[in-house]
Amino acid sequence: MATVLITGANRGLGLEFCKQYAAEGWQVLACCRNPETASQLTDTPQVRVFPLNVSDFTQIDNLAAELQDTAIDVLINNAGIYGGPHHGFGQLDYAAWTKTLTVNTQAPVKMAEAFLPHLKRGNNKLLASISSQMGSIADNSSGGSILYRTSKAALNAAMKSIAIDLKDQRIGVLVLHPGWVKTDMGGPDALIEAQESVAGMREVIARFTLAQSGSFLKYDGSTLPW
Ligand SMILES: NC(=O)c1ccc[n+]([C@@H]2O[C@H](COP(=O)([O-])OP(=O)(O)OC[C@H]3O[C@@H](n4cnc5c(N)ncnc54)[C@H](OP(=O)(O)O)[C@@H]3O)[C@@H](O)[C@H]2O)c1
Repeated sequence: MATVLITGANRGLGLEFCKQYAAEGWQVLACCRNPETASQLTDTPQVRVFPLNVSDFTQIDNLAAELQDTAIDVLINNAGIYGGPHHGFGQLDYAAWTKTLTVNTQAPVKMAEAFLPHLKRGNNKLLASISSQMGSIADNSSGGSILYRTSKAALNAAMKSIAIDLKDQRIGVLVLHPGWVKTDMGGPDALIEAQESVAGMREVIARFTLAQSGSFLKYDGSTLPW
């Protein structure tokens, strides 16, 4: 049975990933801050739920140790935050910026470091990080959202390096844009449902080959500019 580990698994895209992988017969290691309130996860067979605040790097190390005998085929760095309302130049909240960088940039890298041995033992050997088109510098035509944009641009840069660093070990790295999705973060005016976004990203993951490692792909498989 293939195994996927997903962060931020209790709602939004993370929860949808869990549901779809579980329905397909995968073993799902669902990580979330508060498992006791994640009843949609705990009620699903094939889903094992683990407490994990990704900004607590000791917790990441402890979970990696707890799962040391587990092979992970696909690790999905999904947990993310927008960073709050003070995103515009002239009114930036620097403490919120630091927190955003911790959750959106450093935590996915820390997850990659901590779970590298587990990925090496897996078959697919794929590290997928949910970034955003808003992290694309080439695509930025509207400005603003400095906290979020920088955190995802830095995530992209880190994952590109990790893709190169791990290629010899045959570990693949993908950076994914889920589309503009109706979740708490995306809001009700977003263009697509979580079901469509996640089905698309799962398809991209299923078709992944090592030659694609270090790519920045949209949920429909198209390539995005950095
Ligand atoms: N929705 C969109 O349109 C869109 C577009 C582009 C990219 N994305 C990216 O897609 C990913 C998922 O977004 P979403 O739309 O599903 O957002 P969401 O509905 O707001 O869910 C965010 C998830 O991240 C978790 N999380 C936040 N901080 C965490 C932490 N410190 N430790 C562990 N978990 C944490 C949340 O857990 P709690 O419930 O504990 O807060 C929640 O499970 C994010 O990386 C986001 O940046 C989304």
